[in-house]
Amino acid sequence: MAEPIAPEPSPPVSRVTLAGVAIFVAALMALLLWLPGTEPRVPPGETDMGAIFARNCAICHGPTGQGKGKFPKIAGTEKTEEEIVRQLETGKGEMPKFEATPAQREAMARYVKELRK
Ligand code: HEC
Repeated sequence: MAEPIAPEPSPPVSRVTLAGVAIFVAALMALLLWLPGTEPRVPPGETDMGAIFARNCAICHGPTGQGKGKFPKIAGTEKTEEEIVRQLETGKGEMPKFEATPAQREAMARYVKELRK
């Protein structure tokens, strides 16, 4: 009584390949979504604090640090440069941290201290 040899319905490899491609595509998309989030907001070589302030800080503190709406005036702040550096490192309350190099955080703190009252 020989069983009839059933022909393979379809090569099993194709499903494995499809699953592999699907996983690869999903991983690629996840990577693309994740990459911009991990990029520092400020290009590491950028030294123009005026331009960085305009892009990263003015939205809350106003273009000259005079404050805006519920966000505080920072021109003439009583905080020391070191305190400002620390706050830029960690953020505070609604203020996000300033994602930049340590040298840029120091330069930004100096820039803030120079803003006219
Ligand atoms: C989303 C709005 C927002 C952005 C963007 C923002 N800040 Fe702030 N900042 C705040 C808020 C809110 C506070 C008050 C935090 C607190 O004390 O609770 C603050 C406080 C400060 C202070 C302290 C002022 C003081 O005298 O206590 C400094 C200095 C400062 N910000 C600088 C900056 C700089 C420089 C940037 C850009 C790199 C920046 N902030 C971006 C919202 C913002």
